[in-house]
Amino acid sequence: MFHRYLILVALLLSATAHAQEEQPSISQLLQEPFLDDYYSNVVYGYEIVTDSQRHASRYVGNALNCSSCHLQAGTQKDALPLNVAGMYPKWRAKNGKRNGIGLRIRECFLYSMDGIMPPEDAPEVLAVSAYVSYLSQGEVMGAEPEGRGVPTLPDTGYDPNPASGRLVYLQQCASCHGEQGQGVGVAPPVWGLDSFNRGAGMHGIETAAGFIWANMPLGQGRSLSQQQALDVAAYINLQIRPADPRESRLLKLLEAVLP
Ligand code: HEC
Ligand code: HEC
Repeated sequence: MFHRYLILVALLLSATAHAQEEQPSISQLLQEPFLDDYYSNVVYGYEIVTDSQRHASRYVGNALNCSSCHLQAGTQKDALPLNVAGMYPKWRAKNGKRNGIGLRIRECFLYSMDGIMPPEDAPEVLAVSAYVSYLSQGEVMGAEPEGRGVPTLPDTGYDPNPASGRLVYLQQCASCHGEQGQGVGVAPPVWGLDSFNRGAGMHGIETAAGFIWANMPLGQGRSLSQQQALDVAAYINLQIRPADPRESRLLKLLEAVLP
């Protein structure tokens, strides 16, 4: 009897050890001399997310990395975490289609990165998909992961006020992001031609306000009032940035000309 118990314990222990083996950390993976196809894609996906400028430059049109918004390489709650493989495919109003994770990734290239939509089978898309699956290990299929997206701010009872937002920006944001929103050093641009375009999720005042309230100033998340976050989001929203590619003049012209 005791014997059987010991065998059971041994089996359980080896199963847990194996589970840990199955999901090595990124820093462990980076040290491995050889990786199988899946893990080499996971590492490549991680590199694209954290340094899109270098590893996905052919599809990127601005100065951002995915991790400029998907903080801590997509692992931070309330900062658009990327552990969301179990949420796809799903229907999305933005494009009126059932969206696989691949399409969702490709759209962030087009809008958030103001770039070119990569083809479905681009190595960059496959790699980021592998990284998203890796981050989603342990999540339940179809169940919303905790801290997904950004917090939804309650109605403050006041309209967002860009004039007050300008003061918040100058006092709390400009030291890193620059007075002209152009970005300085590691702080990315928040407006201007090197920023996300008007089709991006971050261009929505509510999404931007939720992100800013939870995460900015970097390292001091939740220090602004929710009204300040809405105000500064409205201010940023009014500044110049690239057009929504869906509304470009060229596209409109093509639509008018083509049958
Ligand atoms: C300017 C900020 C920004 C950048 C840069 C950015 N994203 Fe996003 N991303 C968002 C926002 C905001 C959302 C969610 C809002 C929405 O769906 O419109 C989102 C959603 C996503 C989702 C779906 C998340 C979910 O909860 O379902 C994926 C996957 C994703 N982005 C991948 C990427 C990849 C890959 C890159 C880099 C190539 C990237 N994003 C760059 C802002 C950004
Ligand atoms: C201490 C420096 C610092 C301060 C202050 C700061 N940020 Fe940021 N912010 C960053 C960094 C760095 C990132 C990118 C995160 C990364 O790469 O890990 C970022 C990312 C962002 C992003 C998403 C990426 C982009 O460029 O659009 C927005 C929006 C943003 N910050 C807005 C603000 C606002 C609004 C304030 C003031 C309330 C603020 N930040 C204050 C450093 C800062």
